[in-house]
This record gives sequence, structure tokens and C-alpha cells, in this order.
Amino acid sequence: AMIGKGNHRHFMLKEIYEQPAVIGDTLQTYLDPATRAVTLPALPFDWAKVSRVTITACGTACFAGMVAKYWFEKLARLSVEVEVASELRYREPPLPEGGVCIAVSQSGETIDTLAALRYAKAQKQIIVSVVNVPESAIARESHVVLPTLAGPEIGVASTKAFTTQLTVLLTAAIAAGRARGTLTAADEARLAHALIELPAHVNETVNMEDQYRHIAEDILSEARDVLYIGRGSSFPVALEGALKLKEVSYIHAEGYAGGEMKHGPIALIDELVPVVVVAPTDSVFDKIASNFEQVKARGGKLILMTDAKGAARLGDQAIATIVLPAVDPVIAPILYTVPAQLLAYHTAVAKGTDVDQPRNLAKSVTVE
Ligand code: G6P
Repeated sequence: AMIGKGNHRHFMLKEIYEQPAVIGDTLQTYLDPATRAVTLPALPFDWAKVSRVTITACGTACFAGMVAKYWFEKLARLSVEVEVASELRYREPPLPEGGVCIAVSQSGETIDTLAALRYAKAQKQIIVSVVNVPESAIARESHVVLPTLAGPEIGVASTKAFTTQLTVLLTAAIAAGRARGTLTAADEARLAHALIELPAHVNETVNMEDQYRHIAEDILSEARDVLYIGRGSSFPVALEGALKLKEVSYIHAEGYAGGEMKHGPIALIDELVPVVVVAPTDSVFDKIASNFEQVKARGGKLILMTDAKGAARLGDQAIATIVLPAVDPVIAPILYTVPAQLLAYHTAVAKGTDVDQPRNLAKSVTVE
């Protein structure tokens, strides 16, 4: 069927706005609101017996895998490796007996991800795929398919596929935590409740559109380089924010773990380089706050993404502060991705680039 842009100027914007609905649709499959328990399809393995998880993917999907690493480690105390598929497939690392390989892909057709999956299968891993296209090659070759239910994604830069990948991966990590006895029923109920509230929080966040447009027009579109920093599970959000900006606006952007600033990127800071700080109030907030202050001391232009508590602490030192709803820190990577998407989108529009079809990029990379 033909898919239109509705009232939106671009598919990317339409897909960003669809996120509350498609995250909700995805949760309907993976969560029982009555019992506040996750409900994964039957799996042909027991999480309690899994020796290690290897997550592999390309591009944005790989950043979803990086966030999932934090979740599986924290909630299920499982050891997780994440690697871009193009490296995994040629490096041919040993994969342990009893391991699970999770392949993450919007299209389900990315050639490197498919080849990495085949390699992992030959290494006797159980293959779980998180895909948006259930009749795809990656889905067909997996032992278990966890669909993302984002609906067709047309914009080349992935948005709703990413946030639904995160949603599915978080429910999987919760299920693993339950099976491994590392997550109490109360913790599971708390996280399930936070997930149930997530669509409303995402909706509130997309609707702060004027703010993103102003920051994009006045600050980001004028920049030659932009840094994104985060710590903990906000680090992959910083990587994804930087990727979104470079994909659609062609501005050079880098994502960094906050603690690495002093090992290089701080040398770049002057009044011309905006730094986007992804800083929900979580266990590493004080650490990212000190990175924020280091940038401030060098004259950097700070764009802060935080909640009301973080804004009270740092907001007056930023040139722009995006105040997001306060959420459980576990959920924050999903919510904090949304403003990063909208900053990239509005910067691209301000620069007049082809948002839905950026130069040199393809929606799915099926040949090497
Ligand atoms: C391309 C797309 C990206 C996507 C990546 C992986 O580079 O432009 O948006 O993240 O491929 O695609 P997949 O379909 O495997 O998620």
C-alpha cells in the first residue's frame, strides 16, 4: 500500500510523531498491563542457563544493542558483548557454548548483520532477532523473532524503529532478569509501570517542538562540529544523537562517553562548538555534571537535556535546556532519544538538506 506523509512535511517527522503510538503497540505485545509483567513469546532456551549474550547490528540498530547491553548487565547480570556486524563477521571470535546472539535490524535484510547471524549460528548460538520486517531474511534465519511493530519506516534515518527496538530489548532484559532471579517482582512491576507511562511521556516530549526548532535554527545549524556526551546508558544515546545529526544535516558530530572528554575532545571546545549533554538524573548525574562544568569552563556552548531536577542544578549555565518528564533512569534512553531526533530533524530543515533521502545513504544496505 502507498504510505503518505499525512500532515507532515517529511517522513522522518511523521515517524518521530508516530513513536507514542508504535511504542504503545509494541508494549501491547510484550507487556500485560493487568499483571504488570512482561510477556515474551515462548523461547527455546532458559535465560538462567545463558552463558553470554552477543548483540550484533549495524548503524542505529547497533546503538540500540549498546543500550541493551547496559540493561541486560544491570537487570539480568548477564555478560553482553555488542559488536558491529561488519567486524564480528570477519573477526570470527569464539562464541561460548550456551550463548545467545541477538541480531537487531529494522529491515531484516542488512547483509553484514545477516552474515554475522550466520556466523553466530555456525558457532551454535541461539539466534534471537529483533526486526521490524517479520518476513525478512534475518527473521527467517533466526530461532526466535521478536518483532518491533513500528510499522513501515520510510525515512532513511531510523527513528521509530530505534525506539521500538529499545522497547523490545528492555522487555527482554526484564524477562531475563526475572528468569535469572536478579530482578524482584516489585522491580519488574515498577519497570512495567514506567513502560506503560512511556508513550505519554514521549508524546509530551515530541510536542515541545518549538524548543527544538529554535535550538536547531539558532545554534546547531550554524555549527561546523557538534559534540554529544552522555554516561552510562546515555552514552549510546549520545552516539545515536550524533549519528542522526550527521546523517540528515551533514554537520560533523561525535558522540562521546563523558569520562572520555578529557582524553581528547575537550581540546576542541571553544565558543563555536555546541555540546549536547544527555543528562537524566541517574546514578552518574554528578559525573556528567562535572563534564558539563569542564566544557563550561572552556567557553563551550552547552545544550542540556535533563529533567526538572537536573535543570535546577545546571540549567542556568546552559544556553539551552530541554526539560523532559522525570522518568525511571532505566527508561531514560528511550525518552532522551526523542529530542535528539528532533534536533537533527530541525537542523536539517534549517540547512535545507534532503531529510528523507540524505545524500549517499540508503535505507537498507543489502550489498557490501
Ligand atoms: C542503514 C540505514 C540506517 C540503519 C542501518 C541498519 O545505514 O540508513 O538507518 O540503522 O542501515 O539497518 P537495519 O535495517 O539493519 O536496521
